[in-house]
Amino acid sequence: MSENLPNSTPRHVAIIMDGNGRWAKERLLPRQAGHNAGAKAVERTLQAAQKAGVEFLTLYAFSTENWIRPQEEIDGLMKLLEQTLDKYTKEAEKNNFRLWVSGEREPLPARVLEKIDYAVNATAENTGLTLNLALNYGARQEITHAVNALIAEGKTSVTPEDLQKHLYHSALPDPELIIRTSGEERLSNFLLWQAAYSEFYFTPVLWPDFTEAEFNKALDAYRARTRRFGGL
Ligand code: IPE
Ligand code: IPE
Ligand code: MG
Repeated sequence: MSENLPNSTPRHVAIIMDGNGRWAKERLLPRQAGHNAGAKAVERTLQAAQKAGVEFLTLYAFSTENWIRPQEEIDGLMKLLEQTLDKYTKEAEKNNFRLWVSGEREPLPARVLEKIDYAVNATAENTGLTLNLALNYGARQEITHAVNALIAEGKTSVTPEDLQKHLYHSALPDPELIIRTSGEERLSNFLLWQAAYSEFYFTPVLWPDFTEAEFNKALDAYRARTRRFGGL
């Protein structure tokens, strides 16, 4: 757990990127146009996080609950993801980004899995910012996955540290700051374990309108918080 350093920049920022559909609706555009605009906001945020000295950026891209959306929207999102992964892999070489993915592989399409594997391998040795894409991610699934791994090891009693070891990325520090755009104020099955002491920042800005300035505003809000971790 990180200590409270006044004016410090969080090591790990996690973002629930929400509001693509409403952004498109406001413009009488198809929902996919909102997702496409959202992909541009991802690039801006990645640059902003790198500039600010953030080490880990987790972006909630697709939840385990999002499969109930219309097939056409899911197909569009998967296609966008493939394109983004291609672009990201190229940029990662330039910017020294490392890609991690948190989530279950099933039932992601084979083409997406191939691109993920390629990007994760190609960037594994990079030493810059780690972009952790939460994809087909659900926090209850992550915790259950860890519990099952512990059962498979024959454990009959576990500690929080044992569970931490079997999360999708045991080396991922807890996010000091969790941002959610679009005015919704809920976790939607995101990082339930890791969020135990996170600071939350909610903004009405829709994800496609999210900018470097908005990101820095969230960091400033975080820096103004007092974190007590149960102490005085
Ligand atoms: C977030 O935007 C993107 C995903 C969940 C994939 P939404 O698509 O949820 O946008 P709204 O909430 O309908 O506006
Ligand atoms: C959360 O957004 C998931 C992602 C941002 C990927 P949703 O739009 O799916 O969340 P709910 O349904 O409003 O809770
Ligand atoms: Mg939404």
